[in-house]
Amino acid sequence: MIKYLNQPFQLPCGAEVPNRIAKSALSEGIAEADGRPSESLFNLYERWGKGGAGILFTGNVMVDKDHLVNANVMIADDAFLADYATLAQKAQANGTQLWMQINHPGRQAPVYLDKAPVSASDVGMPSRMYLKPRPLTEEEILELIERYGNAALLAKEAGMSGAQIHGAHGYLVSQFLSGLTNVRTDKWGGSLENRARFVLEIYRNMRAKVGPDFPLGIKINSADFQRGAFTEEESMQVIQMLDAEGMDLIEVSGGTYERAAMVGTQHKESTIKREAYFLEFIVKVRKLVKTPLMLTGGFRSSAAMEAALASGELDFIGMGRPFCVYPNIANDLISGERAGCEVPDLLTGVPKIDMSGMLQTPWHMFQLARMGKGLEPDLDMDIWMVYEKVTGRKRPEQA
Ligand SMILES: Cc1cc2nc3c(=O)[nH]c(=O)nc-3n(C[C@H](O)[C@H](O)[C@H](O)COP(=O)(O)O)c2cc1C
Repeated sequence: MIKYLNQPFQLPCGAEVPNRIAKSALSEGIAEADGRPSESLFNLYERWGKGGAGILFTGNVMVDKDHLVNANVMIADDAFLADYATLAQKAQANGTQLWMQINHPGRQAPVYLDKAPVSASDVGMPSRMYLKPRPLTEEEILELIERYGNAALLAKEAGMSGAQIHGAHGYLVSQFLSGLTNVRTDKWGGSLENRARFVLEIYRNMRAKVGPDFPLGIKINSADFQRGAFTEEESMQVIQMLDAEGMDLIEVSGGTYERAAMVGTQHKESTIKREAYFLEFIVKVRKLVKTPLMLTGGFRSSAAMEAALASGELDFIGMGRPFCVYPNIANDLISGERAGCEVPDLLTGVPKIDMSGMLQTPWHMFQLARMGKGLEPDLDMDIWMVYEKVTGRKRPEQA
């Protein structure tokens, strides 16, 4: 019997969320070529909107069309207001909330999309897939802060229920927070206070633009899991700073695309069995802050979700991959129709591929594309077909 997942929740700004299940942000890659929400996106969100989640976070919406993380992602542009309004209307027709996740890739923008990447500093990714970034000037930093604020305002004007800063997974906000990628010597780098200035100013700009009643949240890493990068200790301090600012919801995740902890391919067997990857971290955070907390990464069974909520250590359960193959999962868990959702492990048997988690994202994005076309998700989709499409290479002989 479900006791917690179905409970409504009031955010600090006063808005009420109908239940405790959220679809975490999933980059869809099915916008129009100019970044406008497409018919396929309307179909996908209409479907998810019937699925019973309390909140649907959009896939990352980019603040600058010249800096993208993958092709055909949504772009925050006032010219697309009517399209975003349609998206909001489709997603929210049954009382589910739609929040826009707002992002800039910084250095984590692949070379085929970004020939002139920017970041906090000129620290490149250790891969030929990415070019070395140029450090942003102070003027550009201030302009970007405005862009994040304007994107939040666009979300509000389109009738969405909230906005979320993407502060996780090694993108630009993460890059400013991490001492590994931010080696600036001005007021935007150096001490943790300085490295956190970018995200705090983004939040303040958004809040000034959307007013006190509009839900604002952030997705942040518990840690980057790399030597010299953003640590758990630092993450806890930044979360306390955000708490003091009046944030409505803090979603905890972890890892970067150099070290893909968010999709769990490098976690210990015991962590995967226990489901929530970053639970120990959130237990510590709960003691430090009053801001409502959401945990994403690994949740699969209603028993684990109910236990996490019952413990009082978090307020929302976030899920990503399950929503790609079970669009009705929130309804199913709450009604008891399903006790959980097995998501394929997508292992190829080739350790290098499996450890990198490189097929996780595209395999799931292909499922979103199917739903955008009105098709059912395909749990049996061949992982090697995805490999061949993504890499342009044939599957290895032994596979
Ligand atoms: C296809 C795909 C796209 C994703 N896109 C985003 C994104 O745009 N923003 C984000 O914060 N996380 C993104 N993620 C990470 C998920 O939100 C989530 O943190 C991760 O999948 C772990 O949760 P899960 O174990 O429930 O899947 C993506 C994950 C997948 C599989």
